[in-house]
Amino acid sequence: MRDADCIAFLQWALPKMGFRWPGFRKVRGQVCKRVGRRLKELGLADTQAYREYLSSQPDEWAILDGLCRITISRFFRDRKVYETLGDEVLPELGRQRASAGEPVLDIWSAGCGAGEEPYSISILCHHSDDPDLQRAEVRVLATDSDEHQLDRARAAIYPLGCTKDMPAEIRDSAFEKLHQDQLLLREPLRRDIEFACQDLRQEMPDGPFHLILCRNVAFTYFVEETQRELLAALNQRLLPGGYLVIGAHEKLPSERSPFDPLPHCTSIVRRVDR
Ligand SMILES: C[S@@+](CC[C@H](N)C(=O)[O-])C[C@H]1O[C@@H](n2cnc3c(N)ncnc32)[C@H](O)[C@@H]1O
Repeated sequence: MRDADCIAFLQWALPKMGFRWPGFRKVRGQVCKRVGRRLKELGLADTQAYREYLSSQPDEWAILDGLCRITISRFFRDRKVYETLGDEVLPELGRQRASAGEPVLDIWSAGCGAGEEPYSISILCHHSDDPDLQRAEVRVLATDSDEHQLDRARAAIYPLGCTKDMPAEIRDSAFEKLHQDQLLLREPLRRDIEFACQDLRQEMPDGPFHLILCRNVAFTYFVEETQRELLAALNQRLLPGGYLVIGAHEKLPSERSPFDPLPHCTSIVRRVDR
């Protein structure tokens, strides 16, 4: 399939599924490949034939929706964000828990990919020398709508390239080397994570949470109306003083946001009750 054909097709199809084209522009290659494979499977000649197929077979829209999941991720993606989480946010949440006399620290990774994001949080907590964080009982819930991603997350085996943003000494102690540049995350770092298959647009865990990560999913790929609805739902599940982390290239949809960004790391916002 020619790139121009794929672009025209995506610009037509994405808004019909509640997605925004600009979010896909740079990463369209992954979706175009899958759409090309789907055309072959269906024996269709081109994207025009696929448009007609979609009009006559409405169930195909759900399949196309699944083909549009971008799965790019890596450990400690956006190092500044992880530095701020490790040096500031997680210790502060640990202090909050200690002063409340409640050890449990609840964290949700929404759109968790193949586990790189929730495991990065687990690694930060295990490597921290902050006494309050060390005493906290950290529970991470990680959800994704893609079963294949969740299977990969549970297996916890990654190519070396996935760890290129991690400080080397942390990487070396977090993983066991397998073969051919494959790394297995060590068992203690996997222990406190629960994975569940959920589509953010249809269901969410009840919470509440002290920290929610919703990065490079909702605020990149979904239309603004869905973004607003999801932001309200995330806000409801966040405790007062809790934190939301979004992608480094994302911004929140609402001008009157119930969140204050951290001045030195605007991808991390704190819930404020105005
Ligand atoms: C680009 S990856 C981002 C992973 C991680 N949050 C990060 O920033 O590195 C997007 C992930 O969101 C998942 N996803 C896409 N749409 C979703 C939805 N509606 N509900 C839940 N997860 C979704 C995809 O399967 C994929 O694993």
